[in-house]
This record gives sequence, structure tokens and C-alpha cells, in this order.
Amino acid sequence: MKKILFVEDNELLLELYGAMLAGEPDSWETTLAPNGAAALKLIQQTTFDVVVSDMQMPGMNGIELLTELCRLHPQTSRIIVSGLADQAEAAESLNCTHLFIPKPFNAKTLQATLVRIGSLDAYLKNDALRGLAGRMHSMPSFPTLYLEILREIESPRSSIQGIANIVAQDPGITAKVLQVANSAAVGLPQKVSDAAEAVQQLGLTTIRSLVLSAQVFGSFAPARVQDFSADALWTHLMGCGALARAILRREHAPLTDAEDAFTAGMLHDVGKLMLAHSLPREFAQALELAAQEEISQAAAEQRVFGADHAGLAAYLLGLWGLPTSIVEAVAFHHTPEQGGLKQCSALTAVHVANAFLDETGTAPVNRAYLAEIGVAARLPDWQETAVELQLKSFSSS
Ligand SMILES: [Fe+2]
Ligand SMILES: [Fe+2]
Repeated sequence: MKKILFVEDNELLLELYGAMLAGEPDSWETTLAPNGAAALKLIQQTTFDVVVSDMQMPGMNGIELLTELCRLHPQTSRIIVSGLADQAEAAESLNCTHLFIPKPFNAKTLQATLVRIGSLDAYLKNDALRGLAGRMHSMPSFPTLYLEILREIESPRSSIQGIANIVAQDPGITAKVLQVANSAAVGLPQKVSDAAEAVQQLGLTTIRSLVLSAQVFGSFAPARVQDFSADALWTHLMGCGALARAILRREHAPLTDAEDAFTAGMLHDVGKLMLAHSLPREFAQALELAAQEEISQAAAEQRVFGADHAGLAAYLLGLWGLPTSIVEAVAFHHTPEQGGLKQCSALTAVHVANAFLDETGTAPVNRAYLAEIGVAARLPDWQETAVELQLKSFSSS
């Protein structure tokens, strides 16, 4: 039985929270608090497993509350529920929140998150992973261009040109956006040559995901590591993003799930870049070990670092407050059976896309997992999707 505290000043929402887990009285004990001050009193007396707090509340806001909670009970899972415009602030208070759920959400989304949080949280709190994250020279700060785009999309005066102007501020990101727009996997009918056209053709949500991954990618200049190519990695990420999204579209998954799959696919291996950037010598050792023993790169990293690139990237994205489904898909892309949600999700799509586009032959599809969530029979169709996207030529270009 887990103890969960919901903090929300909107009465109707608070009622919804109260009712949400009522159907599972054996798994959850729900407590409700109408504001930060009331919640603070509760957390001073009781230890909760999970605290879900609204961000904007009169008096003490969500971040202040969760910061205090972190001091009193560092082991409690901390979730902020808020509008996308607040994601920046939530992310800037590093360590204060574990997960961010954008509003508006439906009860199903939150329930799915709560199911996931147990496994994801335990994984991200792993000492070896924390130790490895601590050895990074510097954790990059929240990508500002991505934030500007989030704000522009939320703004009532947002325009394609406005978004294009933001993208165009950074030539490196513009180049990556154009590369993706013109790739076979995206399949646009004509060549796209500037940011405005790319925004128009790709759509706002895709641009948002793309800018995030391009910016994360650009923030790590990898040291020269033998047998590691950042360009090849970017191509792999583009392919996985496009394929993961196409798989969920084929399954008629909700639009947000498909976009999350795209973002997660575009980010799933950035942990490799982080390792190559901060610990090049040991990273080279791990690559060598993987080649010598014909084991997966993740397994070799586990041996050398005690944790792997999937965990490292998920740790960073979790700190930034990215949506749970993205953090989960990145964290478990090699071990999807560890995910808490047993249904076809962004995690499933990224896992399969990565397996299809893995050239080392050491990251096979986990068929037992697909059978467990009831989609094993869909594999041939997904393979067809990869062929339709011309990902063979895409990944070798
Ligand atoms: Fe990976
Ligand atoms: Fe990968």
C-alpha cells in the first residue's frame, strides 16, 4: 500500500484526484490538501511515497513545497502538475521535482504515470547511476531555445514565423532541423530550404521535439573517441524518432503518445554523447570491451561505469522535468520489461525502433515483452513501416 498526497487549490480537480484512486483501495491511500501550507503540515507529520502538487497555488507554490519536501523526505517521489509554460521554472529548480505532468491531462494519463513512477523512480535513484551522473563535468542546463519555443507555442500570438525566427537563431539547430525535414524518413514532397518552411511542413509539435533533441545533442561536444561518431549517432536518433512515431501512428495511438515516441527516439542515446564528452577514456574502454566480447554497448558500460547511457540520459531528462513517458522510454529502451506500464506506449515504439536500426546486432527485440503487452503479432507490420520510411538507406546515409 502506497501513501499518496495530492496538493491542488482547484476544488474540482482535488475532488477528481480523490476519486481517481478510490477504485484501488488496496494499492493507494490517498490524502488531499487544498494548498501548500496544509500540505506542509501533513508532510511534517507523515512520510508519503508520492506527492503530486500543482505548481501555481496562492501562498506557497508547488516548487517551494516540493523543495521543502525534498529536504524533509528525500526519498519521496515528487511530481509537479502544471501548464507547459511552467516547465521551465519546474526544470530550473533541479532536483526539486522528479516528474512533470503537463496540464491539461486526463485521469488516465495521471494514473498511467503513477503506475510507472514506482519502477522509474527506483531506477533513477540507483546509487551507481547517481554516482555516474555526479562524475559528469557539468550537467547542461535546460535547453533555452526549446523553452522559447514552448513559450511561443503557448502564446496566443504565436505564429509560424515567430517559431521559425527562434529556430533560426541557432545555425547548428537550423541545419539539423532542415536535415530531418529533408530526410527520406519524413517524406516531405519537396525540398525544404529554410526554417519557416520546415516549421510549416513539419508542424509545431515535431519542431518542438526536434529542437529539444538538436539542442541537447549540440550541448555535448564529444571528445575524439575511437570507433564513436557523433554524426552516425545523430542519424541513428533521427531514424529511431521517425520510426517510433510511425509505429504508434500505425497503432492509432493518441497523438501525444506518438509525439512522445518521436522525442524519446530522438533522445534515447544522448547518454552516449554525455559519456564520450565527459569520460572519453573510459567510454573508449567500454566500446572496446563491447567489441571484444560481442556484448551490447549498454552491457559494457554497465561493467565499466556501473550504469549505462540509457540511465544517464533518463537521469538528465528527468531532472529537466520532461514528461514521464519520454523519460521512461529513454530509461528502458534496452530493457522495456522494466517499464511499469504494460501496454503499447512510447517505450514500446522506441525499443522496437532501436532494435530495428541497431547495426551491431546486440540489441534484439524483446519478444517476451511484446507478447506480455499483447503486440507480438504486430512486428511484421512495424517492419513494413521501417521499409516504407526507407530507413535502410536513411540510416546508412
Ligand atoms: Fe541505447
Ligand atoms: Fe540506440
